[in-house]
Amino acid sequence: MADEPRKYRSTSWFGGAGKNAFMHRSWMKNEGHPPDVFDGRPVIGICNTWSELTPCNAHLRTIAEHVKRGVYEAGGFPLEFPVMSLGESNMRPTAMLFRNLASMDVEESIRSNPIDGVILLVGCDKTTPALLMGAASCDLPTIAVSGGPMLNGNFRGKAIGSGTHVWKFYEDVKAGRMSVDDFLAAEQGQSRSAGSCMTMGTASTMASMVEALGIGMPDNAAIPAVDSRRAILAQESGRRIVQLVREDVKMSKILVREAFENAIRVNGAIGGSTNAVIHLIAVARRLGLDLSLDDWDKFGRDVPTIVDLMPSGRYLMEDFYYAGGLRAVMRVLDEHGLLHGNAPSVAGPTIGEIVADAPNYNGEVIRSFEEPLTPQGGIAVLRGNLAPGGAVIKPSAATEALMQHRGRAVVFETIEHYYKRIDDPDLDIDASCIMVLKNCGPKGYPGMAEVGNMPLPAKLLQQGVTDMVRISDARMSGTAYGTVVLHTAPEAAAGGPLALVRDGDMIELDVAGRRLHLDVSDAELEARRADWVPPTHEGINGYQKLFVDHVLQADEGCDFDFLLGKREAGIPRHSH
Ligand code: FES
Repeated sequence: MADEPRKYRSTSWFGGAGKNAFMHRSWMKNEGHPPDVFDGRPVIGICNTWSELTPCNAHLRTIAEHVKRGVYEAGGFPLEFPVMSLGESNMRPTAMLFRNLASMDVEESIRSNPIDGVILLVGCDKTTPALLMGAASCDLPTIAVSGGPMLNGNFRGKAIGSGTHVWKFYEDVKAGRMSVDDFLAAEQGQSRSAGSCMTMGTASTMASMVEALGIGMPDNAAIPAVDSRRAILAQESGRRIVQLVREDVKMSKILVREAFENAIRVNGAIGGSTNAVIHLIAVARRLGLDLSLDDWDKFGRDVPTIVDLMPSGRYLMEDFYYAGGLRAVMRVLDEHGLLHGNAPSVAGPTIGEIVADAPNYNGEVIRSFEEPLTPQGGIAVLRGNLAPGGAVIKPSAATEALMQHRGRAVVFETIEHYYKRIDDPDLDIDASCIMVLKNCGPKGYPGMAEVGNMPLPAKLLQQGVTDMVRISDARMSGTAYGTVVLHTAPEAAAGGPLALVRDGDMIELDVAGRRLHLDVSDAELEARRADWVPPTHEGINGYQKLFVDHVLQADEGCDFDFLLGKREAGIPRHSH
């Protein structure tokens, strides 16, 4: 049924009897669309990160077909379009280098086309924030649909988790506890179906953030990619987006400050990835909301981690879905007064209404506040003379005994320096030392590599050492674990104090006190600063030059300085 006389954005392309309308409609008709789809109904862009180079998103063409069903059913006109896809497992030097680039692709693809509302098809780590950021800058009605996690990995009868077991098995090989043949055999059992990493890594965390923010449908976080209910969720999202366009429910009406505060608390409860800190700050700032590291500490600080999933715990996303999924977690938060129940959702009801009465079918997987996995989950934000702009640590993935620690620094100037030095039998290092890695931040790498969880020296692994304090300006995979201080800001390459640390310096980490202190006098640090030579970024050109020149520090979300804020979709002029 036509929606006239209401005028949508797309009407300025497809409406009327002029020359431009003729052109816009005529060329589209070569796809086989009948004339009545141009009668003024909502046009829904399906922004797809499908790519065979992004294995976690390789099934999204199928998901798009289910979205289209829903759009047609509700009287809309769906049009699928590709955007740059960011595959975490393949992209070098790091997919994070391209998150902002992909967000620009998304923003300009939406703005330049006849689109009234958007479905974002996301999955692999960076695809979710990239699409949310780009869409936020346009601020049309928007729903994110995640591709869903893979089925549980399985190796010789035991569950194995994406990424988490790669780190673990690799250390087992280095320590002599696992043969290389067994290591390669495990590779066959890890990725058993379509979908994203099935640990609570960055992809599952960001799918959970989508649901917690209310910008995705209920159960978006956990339905496995190959479960038919994922297809149903996609179809229902197609129906809902048409309704949101009719009601003019823009993204900024859903992503309000309360939604982000909910998401931060949910991240604590699920033991979510540290990457979410950077991504949520970036999305919020596209919408003009001043989300900060302090908000992460304030709202997430006292939230116990109650989801027992790898890398912090034992289970995997498939178990999480069968246990009740994110709704069951959010219900617990609501019952403890830690949820803004009145926050909106693209589904229609408020977040509080959605999670009320959500059942928990497995108290082992989704635990209670009384028996949590970690009493203080969340992300702890550390400050001190080593991190004036802040640094983060994920307590649920760390070793309790190391959360307060003073140790001697063993410094690696770059990741290459680390690789060269780490297994040198003469390296002066023991389990009480603190490993410090520099020049892996946003500008230094560039792109802020996920190398913060540096593997321990083989000689210590062979002695049975399982964790050490590590500090860097890098990120860490959401599937990784350890007492790892990340995102130190300002980064070394931007002249942060991290650049001044030397072998043998004493460093104090106090997570409870939120302190990261370099025990070197101010006078000595000033003297070292005088000797410090800033990186020249020699040989960096093209897009990487743009990145290095404009990327903000980790505490500001690593967005480009010129992309902050909303620009709205508007209606661009035409050139015909
Ligand atoms: Fe794609 Fe983990 S590599 S979600």
